[in-house]
Amino acid sequence: MDMEEMKVTRFPKDFLWGSASAAYQIEGGWKEDGKGVTNWDTFVRIPGKTYKATTGDVAVDHYHHYKEDIALMAEMGLKTYRFSVSWARIYPEGRGTVNEKGLAFYQDIIDECLKYGIEPMVTIFHWDLPQALVDLYGGWESPNIIEDYVRYARTLFEHYGDKVKYWITLNEQNIFTSLGWLTAQHPPGKFDAQKTFYQVNHHAFMAHAKAVLAYREMGGKGEIGASFAYTPSYAIDCKPINAMAKRDYDELKNFWWMDVYAYGRYPKAAMAYLKKKGYAPEIADGDMDILKKAASEITFMGVNYYQSCVCEYNPMDGVTPYGTMNTTGVKGSAQELGMQGIYKNPANPYLMTTDWDWTIDPMGLRFCCREITSRYGLPIVISENGLGAFDKKTEGNQIHDEYRIHYLKEHLKELGKAIEEGCEIWAYCTWSFTDLLSWLNGYQKRYGFVYVDRDEEDGGTLNRYKKDSFYWYQDVIKTDGENL
Ligand code: BG6
Repeated sequence: MDMEEMKVTRFPKDFLWGSASAAYQIEGGWKEDGKGVTNWDTFVRIPGKTYKATTGDVAVDHYHHYKEDIALMAEMGLKTYRFSVSWARIYPEGRGTVNEKGLAFYQDIIDECLKYGIEPMVTIFHWDLPQALVDLYGGWESPNIIEDYVRYARTLFEHYGDKVKYWITLNEQNIFTSLGWLTAQHPPGKFDAQKTFYQVNHHAFMAHAKAVLAYREMGGKGEIGASFAYTPSYAIDCKPINAMAKRDYDELKNFWWMDVYAYGRYPKAAMAYLKKKGYAPEIADGDMDILKKAASEITFMGVNYYQSCVCEYNPMDGVTPYGTMNTTGVKGSAQELGMQGIYKNPANPYLMTTDWDWTIDPMGLRFCCREITSRYGLPIVISENGLGAFDKKTEGNQIHDEYRIHYLKEHLKELGKAIEEGCEIWAYCTWSFTDLLSWLNGYQKRYGFVYVDRDEEDGGTLNRYKKDSFYWYQDVIKTDGENL
């Protein structure tokens, strides 16, 4: 389809122009008002795990600045704000007694948003898990997590269900499980635990599915789905073995998750491969029926999009999934990765990269939307998209982040084309609203429209300053994306 000449149509009037965050990355107040300790509170204290040993103890202190932050969102004209709830604020021990102060905190955030006409979009789990559940039964490794997660989700539905219309069950299940059980970069820091990895994922799917069903059973009429970190792939060339490498990559790295959310089934070729390797998850009787039932109840696919990748056949003695990740911002320090005997992901010679070696590919966003639309026929919420960069505060507290404006503008143009091509896109949330803690990359990798004065060491003023991109997005929202 030659869409080159196609003018980007106006985004729908009710389009949810948004921005996103996650509790651990912004809140701080890690022990305040009864909050329990989480797996991340523990993990960041292990030497060598995060860039310059950064923690979210204070983060950007949203816990004490939320009114100021939401007022800035209102000034910008934001239509939706996606944020996550920290499970350990609600249930400090992960289960048992509810913490009223934790409930009140998110109630305030929701009310503050609604006061300004900002639609709250709640992520139930964005990676910070009560440590007590890890100590008790190994967290996601045990099927016990399913019941505890559902109880926690029910508590949120019960308390906030009348005000919150958009729910995201899990943020990037594919990422937190991969980094947690394959590459040891996230808690619980396990390496190459393939069998456990797939089992953990099955538990997470079941938790998601049962929460979706609980929501409907409780009378929830809003929108509910999961947010998937979608990295679409391009075959390096037309050599059939490379086209097959792309196909295998998609089955193992993308459809393995999205097919379960949307259809309640695992992709067949990937399952056959995992069975052969002895990695396939144990599936209890009735599980697949529950996954199917939940799949018919989700109403959108959440997509976190940052980059695309290239696929090429990888011989048995080729690169592994385990290599250095660029967490310093020194360009070119990331290694090529892949699965032996299946695929590898070489750099794309046609595209530029960020300082953290993430490929910049606006068209990839449209590609995601098109794939989801044709494969699943679901509406789409872009729940994250953004550029991590070194920003500099200059004289007069100005931050000239024209590179971020360029990045977002190009992505939005492609999103507009996807809408023209028939994709039903409900929302676009940039990552992120304020600067925040990047899990492994410290505070120097900034994503926000609002600069927060802090660096790797605690002790900055935590003052907020609007970047140039703030005013740019404000105008995009005001004009419904007409001037992109
Ligand atoms: C997504 C996560 O993977 O990407 C966010 O949902 C994260 O929590 C974002 O911060 C950007 O990744 P990073 O590693 O640059 O912080």
